[in-house]
Amino acid sequence: MKRFISFEGIDGSGKSTVSKLVYKKLKSDGYDVIYTFEPTNSEIGVQVQKYIKEGADPFVISFTFIADRILHGKQIKKWLEKEKIVICDRYAESTYSYQGAQLKDIIKRPMSWLQDISENKIPIPDRTFLFIIDPEISVSRIKNRDYLIPFEKVSFLKKVQKNYLDLSVDKRFLKIDATKKIEEITKICYDDIMS
Ligand code: TMP
Repeated sequence: MKRFISFEGIDGSGKSTVSKLVYKKLKSDGYDVIYTFEPTNSEIGVQVQKYIKEGADPFVISFTFIADRILHGKQIKKWLEKEKIVICDRYAESTYSYQGAQLKDIIKRPMSWLQDISENKIPIPDRTFLFIIDPEISVSRIKNRDYLIPFEKVSFLKKVQKNYLDLSVDKRFLKIDATKKIEEITKICYDDIMS
């Protein structure tokens, strides 16, 4: 059975809905499970949400997400030491993919750089579900939300998804066709966690 599971994908891919359903099923089946997410609701996490909305400098956004994650990672480590299952909606690959896309024309190899400065400071998930969807479809799913942040544009999300796909060569990743029915995806994720 897998213990630390992260859910990744572009905005509107359905990963938050599915991760919550997986969490609820694990809980109702009697497992000791934590649901957590990034950006977190800590002071730093709230600050980075403001930075995104304002369209702040991408380096400031990158360092703030990484700072939020380093603290979150310490908490996750404690939960894992207490034998809990941890379900995390967005984690390190969000920074590598989103800030990698933001920094693409500013520095060389931004994804490797972002990985180098954070990777050995945080716990690594046993499994990362990567939700794949055409950005045109994902944006059409979220377009009626009250407020769209600057990242929620097809052209940007195309770059983000390409970065995710480049990262997903590691066997830790399981790619999910996010156009499938929510119930079907939930079952795929649940069964995989159990295996
Ligand atoms: P959310 O919609 O999942 O709450 O995430 C808010 C936005 O923040 C979403 O567009 C993805 C973005 N994001 C990053 O750009 N980098 C990160 O490291 C994380 C965790 C989220």
